Amino acid sequence: MSRTPLIAGNWKMYKTGPQAVETAKELAALCSDVQDKEVMIAPTYLSLPLVSQAVKGSRLYVGAQNLYFEKEGAYTGEVSADMIKAAGAEYAIIGHSERRQFFSETDESVSKKINAAVQTGLKPVMCIGETLEEREAKKTFLVLDKQVSDGLKGFGLDDLKDLVLAYEPVWAIGTGKTASVEQVEEVHQYLRSLLEKLFESKLANQTRILYGGSVKPENAKDLMGIADVDGALVGGASLDAGSFINIINYNAV
Ligand code: PGA
Repeated sequence: MSRTPLIAGNWKMYKTGPQAVETAKELAALCSDVQDKEVMIAPTYLSLPLVSQAVKGSRLYVGAQNLYFEKEGAYTGEVSADMIKAAGAEYAIIGHSERRQFFSETDESVSKKINAAVQTGLKPVMCIGETLEEREAKKTFLVLDKQVSDGLKGFGLDDLKDLVLAYEPVWAIGTGKTASVEQVEEVHQYLRSLLEKLFESKLANQTRILYGGSVKPENAKDLMGIADVDGALVGGASLDAGSFINIINYNAV
């Protein structure tokens, strides 16, 4: 089965509304002839409606960096899947390691958030990955197995038809340290077989598995060339349209 690669930019807590719109427009112009892959940008909640409006009619998709799983209610400071959808987003990043690390995100809350995304028609980009200590203790597969099994517990095949997995080793995020081609290949193969074991081969074959963690124009071609890698989740190098387009066009160089 052929999977359309997804190159996603996670803008984290960077850029004001006007700055986000400027970069989004610049990127939309640069992406006008990108045919063979999807490109998504995830600005802050505040910039979502502005960026969605600015890139309307372009080849760019817009995503949120998080959501809250309740439909609505007295949850001060939170934003629901419906609100995100209404702001023009099609994707939602869920369970990013920074949310797990700094905002007490758990596999249980990740699962509830995926459910909220699915019920609303947002495509979930579910992030998983091991810390350096876990890798050194040879627990990588154990950790990933738990994150995937618990995060996706109880879902049916139809619920997960738009699921995207993003493997982001925590030690490679924002550190400049990229996982080696061998490490990425081994984990991505493992994740695809895990999806097959937990669900069935149809889901395993259709799910895009992204790599994230210090992806840059210089290493994108090698990483994206790995058999089970279907795109990238990019932080730092997605903030500048000129750098991000060189990652998006990894196969043109
Ligand atoms: P990085 O971030 O590309 O800056 O390492 C990746 C991410 O957090 O998704």
